[in-house]
Amino acid sequence: MQRFNAKKGLMGLALVALLSTSVFAQEAQDAANQEARKIFANSCSWCHGMFGMKAGKGGPKLAGTSLDETGVYNTIIKGQGSMPSFKNTLKDDEIKMLAKYIKSLPSE
Ligand code: HEC
Repeated sequence: MQRFNAKKGLMGLALVALLSTSVFAQEAQDAANQEARKIFANSCSWCHGMFGMKAGKGGPKLAGTSLDETGVYNTIIKGQGSMPSFKNTLKDDEIKMLAKYIKSLPSE
């Protein structure tokens, strides 16, 4: 009986540890998305509307894009059609952040 309780206690601890790690990861991702929205407002929103949620002046809606994260990253690096390349205007980290952010948008 004594042993059984100790085991249960340990499992409880492990669960708490697991939960707090994922909460932390979620918060880190939220902070990154917050940062990405700032960059988006400066560099992207004059063509892509509503932080990527709607089509804007010339640019398509980005939420629900069929591109994967690498594809989005490459599009930002290379540009496409009338969209300029951001290779020299944004830092690599910022472009990665934007790609993650765009893939985190709900597709509806
Ligand atoms: C000058 C207007 C303009 C700006 C600024 C702009 N875009 Fe675009 N973007 C476009 C246009 C137009 C397309 C469609 C290109 C095509 O397929 O011909 C596009 C396409 C894209 C695509 C591909 C979408 C898909 O599903 O194929 C992504 C991703 C994207 N833009 C992200 C961004 C990001 C992130 C920024 C800011 C760093 C940005 N764009 C800034 C005009 C712009």
